[in-house]
This record gives sequence, structure tokens and C-alpha cells, in this order.
Amino acid sequence: MSTQTTAISQEEVKRVTTQTLREMKKNGIPISMLTAYDYTMSRLLDGAGVDILLVGDSASNVMAGHETTLPITLDQMIYHCQCVVRGAKRALIIADLPFGTYQGNTETALASAVRMMKEGGAHALKLEGAGESIERSIQTIVGAGIPVMGHLGLTPQSINQFGTYRVRAKGNLEATKLKSDALKLQEAGVFGIVLEKIPAALGAEVSKSLKIPTIGIGAGNLCDGQVLVVNDMLGMARDFQPRFVRQYAQLEEVIQEATKTFINDIKSRNFPNEEESY
Ligand code: KIV
Repeated sequence: MSTQTTAISQEEVKRVTTQTLREMKKNGIPISMLTAYDYTMSRLLDGAGVDILLVGDSASNVMAGHETTLPITLDQMIYHCQCVVRGAKRALIIADLPFGTYQGNTETALASAVRMMKEGGAHALKLEGAGESIERSIQTIVGAGIPVMGHLGLTPQSINQFGTYRVRAKGNLEATKLKSDALKLQEAGVFGIVLEKIPAALGAEVSKSLKIPTIGIGAGNLCDGQVLVVNDMLGMARDFQPRFVRQYAQLEEVIQEATKTFINDIKSRNFPNEEESY
């Protein structure tokens, strides 16, 4: 078993906070964010210097193999969050509240938020969507001293309402609503907003109109930061290659080739050799 530690020592590390993100926006420094779901990936991404680790409910897709983000439970998200927290010394750790744990009831929303903070160890939470009831939940959670990030545009927890994963807010009506929702979320107290799969011009306009940072995923280059699902960024999802994903490695091939070689070495009695034996 490997017990390697990151190159960054404890003394040198200053934790990224929501205040850091605000300063970054003010100074025009782009914010980097990636999803993480486990200790090892968290340690690697944090060691490489990513600003934010998002324990995304995309864990439902990429960890559990579900078609949507809807089935993942609060207990499962708390487990993923605990693993990520153990791996990161510098990154701000934001956890998604999963579907059904905050919509429509402020008390339930606060109870879910408190569990994710106490048991999961998250530094902040992300809630999808807008509207009066979500805003009320955000106000209540923020009122309890918990930082909240919003999420507009394509919000995967509402996929059954949208019907498709197509680009959102291409038309004037939806774009106007999104701009007004972003301002309302800011008013409700969020410290940042993820903008998913919207036209680049709209991403730029919303980012300019807000005091808080925006983090884009398929929302153009003028958001205050960018996020990708780590499995997509590392090329571990051959069947999922939308236009907004850039693959920085092809780990799917690397893993499969390594595994084939391992299997061949076993079959040919080439592994373990003398040096690998006691
Ligand atoms: O769950 C997730 O991975 C997300 C990102 C797509 C922003 O919410």
C-alpha cells in the first residue's frame, strides 16, 4: 500500500476560502475547480494546486454508474465528502446537497446542510436551481453560517423537467430569467454560482453583472473560473465527450493497456519475478 504524501508541506499551505475566491474575482485571477469523490484523487488534485474540489453529485454517474444524479443519497454524498476531505490540505471543499434533501422545505434543507458540514466535513455546499423556495433554503443555510454556492443553467437534478441535456437559455426569455435568478441568488447570500451549459455571451454577461464569482462548465471563457468532472478531464469516459470537455489525458487507454499487460504477465508467469517475491 502506498503512503506517499503530497509535495506541499503542512506549514506552507494556506486554505482557499470563499473570501479568497472573492479576491480572485476582484483581481481577475481565474479560479480552477474539479470534482473529486475519493481520497486518492483528492490528494492528487490538491497537490497539483486546484483551488476548489467539488464533491459533486455527479458521483451518482461516475462512481455509482447511475444514468442521472437523482439516485445518490445524502449518506452516500457524506461518505464521498469525508474521503475527499482527508486528501486535501489547500483546496476549498464544496459538497453538493443531493436531490430531495433541500427542495421545498427549509427545515429539511438546514438539517441536510448541517449533516454535510458536521459529518462530511465540507467547507461549503452547492444547491441547484432558483425560485422562492430555493432562495428561502439558501437564506436559512447561509443564516446558520454555512457558505452556499448556487448552480444555474443546466441543473442535472431537474433533468426530468428539462427532458434533455441540451444547452440552456439560448432564447431571450430563458436568458432573461437566468440573469434575474443569478441576481436573486446573490441577494440570497450565495458566495458563487456555477453556470452550466449556457451560451458564452450569457456566461460573460452574468459574470460581469455579479459581485460574486461564477464558475463555468460549458459557459464560455469569460466566467470567473472553470470546472470539469475529473473523469472527463482525465479522459476516463470514452462514451461521454460533449463539446465543453477538454481531455488533458487519455487515462481510459492507459488503464486498459496497463491492465492487459498485468493479465498477460500473470498468464505467462512473468509476475511476480524473483525480486518481487520473498
Ligand atoms: O455534480 C457535478 O459534477 C457538478 C458539476 C458539473 C458542476 O455539479
